[in-house]
Amino acid sequence: MTARIIDGKEIAKKLRYELAQKIDKEPVHPRLAVIWAGDNEASQIYVRNKQKAAQEVGIDCELFHFDKEVAESDIIALIHRLNHDQLVHGIIVQLPLPEHLNSKNILETIQADKDVDAFKMVMTGALWQNRASWTSATPEGVLYLLKTVISDLSGMHAVVIGRSDIVGKPMSGLLLNEDCTVTITHSKTKNLPEIVKTADIVVAACGQPKMVKKEWIKAGAVVIDVGITKVDGVLYGDVDFEEVKNVAGAITPVPGGVGPMTVAMLLKNTYTAYLKQKNSL
Ligand code: GUN
Repeated sequence: MTARIIDGKEIAKKLRYELAQKIDKEPVHPRLAVIWAGDNEASQIYVRNKQKAAQEVGIDCELFHFDKEVAESDIIALIHRLNHDQLVHGIIVQLPLPEHLNSKNILETIQADKDVDAFKMVMTGALWQNRASWTSATPEGVLYLLKTVISDLSGMHAVVIGRSDIVGKPMSGLLLNEDCTVTITHSKTKNLPEIVKTADIVVAACGQPKMVKKEWIKAGAVVIDVGITKVDGVLYGDVDFEEVKNVAGAITPVPGGVGPMTVAMLLKNTYTAYLKQKNSL
């Protein structure tokens, strides 16, 4: 069996088109502030992709770039200013931040109704109580992709590999809200291959290139690869795509799978934040 390839690039393009149609009817453009500190090469690419995609759908995107020695208080002061700016609907801080900065403190400063990455604690709580207006972009993008190949997720066994605050944990919450049976695994998990083998859905988000092998995958399982690691100039996911595609029922490629969905979902969240703020004025 050869897996169906889930084309995240195409699905994200369609989503951006639909979003642009909606935004075109609005009297003002939603506005997203992107805060980035330092010179991390990957972050630079992500930031540029976000700016380009935002512009394409009619979201004004303003970049605030600090050098890598920036003081935490300078970023926090900027966030306070953006929180009070009624023309700004969404604020994100590109991660990772330089090591001397406390990311958690900084993220907590963002006002909840502008936290379009949904990284602050109250947003996590809303997700786990299934009361969130939006959730973090990458897991939301993964869920969207899953729904293109599975009509009803209820009762399925989903194994999430990775427990990060920005992917593994929110992903697990989202899948639980869809009535999946969720197993969260991580670097200390024993018998990982055996556990993954029982999954109907595998979400790999552990940052270990090509770690997930075909022997780990139950025939027909849907495999979503969130990993993206550059090795000698080549991008690899966490899944050994070439061999797993012969066992899985559906699989995402890297690149061109989850990555474009993250950006599309961030834009969708910004539009939702805009609508909520507009309606509460
Ligand atoms: N770094 C890696 N993923 C993300 C993301 O989804 N949002 C932000 N702000 N930074 C990231």
